[in-house]
Amino acid sequence: MITGKNIQKRFGTVQVLKNVDITIRKGEVVAIVGPSGSGKSTLLHILGTLDKPDSGSVEMNSTTLTGLSPKKLAQFRNKHIGFVFQFHHLLPEFSALENVCIPGWLAGTKKAAVEARAKELLQMLGLSHRLENKPNQLSGGEQQRVAVARALINNPDIVFADEPTGNLDSANAQDLHDLFFDLRKKFNQTFLIVTHNEELAKQSDRVLHMRDGAIVEN
Ligand SMILES: Nc1ncnc2c1ncn2[C@@H]1O[C@H](COP(=O)(O)OP(=O)(O)OP(=O)(O)O)[C@@H](O)[C@H]1O
Ligand SMILES: [Mg+2]
Repeated sequence: MITGKNIQKRFGTVQVLKNVDITIRKGEVVAIVGPSGSGKSTLLHILGTLDKPDSGSVEMNSTTLTGLSPKKLAQFRNKHIGFVFQFHHLLPEFSALENVCIPGWLAGTKKAAVEARAKELLQMLGLSHRLENKPNQLSGGEQQRVAVARALINNPDIVFADEPTGNLDSANAQDLHDLFFDLRKKFNQTFLIVTHNEELAKQSDRVLHMRDGAIVEN
């Protein structure tokens, strides 16, 4: 599904990623854990094409992403990659339904088809009664579920999540975990999740430990 080879990244004089090799297979739920500053978000951004490595390569479904033009990358990302962040980054002036639809409209899918899928996703996430609510009219857990629906609208090959439960209480965090595993079961959806949440890490198929810019044994 996705392979990063020999990824190196430095910010100024600091080597933030040191020769990271990583492979995620289709349908896996993989957690990345490690201390603050160990390079987890940086790695996720590079694998998700939001940032470029200094050297090394990222390959997804046998397309080499490193080296694509910014325009091609943006198209690829929109179609194949979903993101969920710690803060939902929903657009405040748009409804839940519109927030979920926007990446679908950007992908050029027919308006009605996008809306139908968005409604289906929101219903699956228990939000059919919140379609018209703006983000500030939703609870934290609901906002994160809308963000998950948005990440899924274009049927991405992989969802990258960076501390998705970082702002949720434990009940909402558990709900979001259950949702990820549900999506894996139903759609064989692949997830790579950076988390400080030990429960979530424990439930995942594999846990990768990062320390000082490298994936270590433990
Ligand atoms: N744009 C940037 N410019 C300079 N330094 C950066 C930049 N982004 C990250 N860093 C540095 O790179 C290191 C790794 O950052 P990163 O965000 O990947 O850590 P993290 O493992 O996600 O930590 P946390 O658990 O706190 O989110 C940190 O020392 C950070 O200060
Ligand atoms: Mg981080």
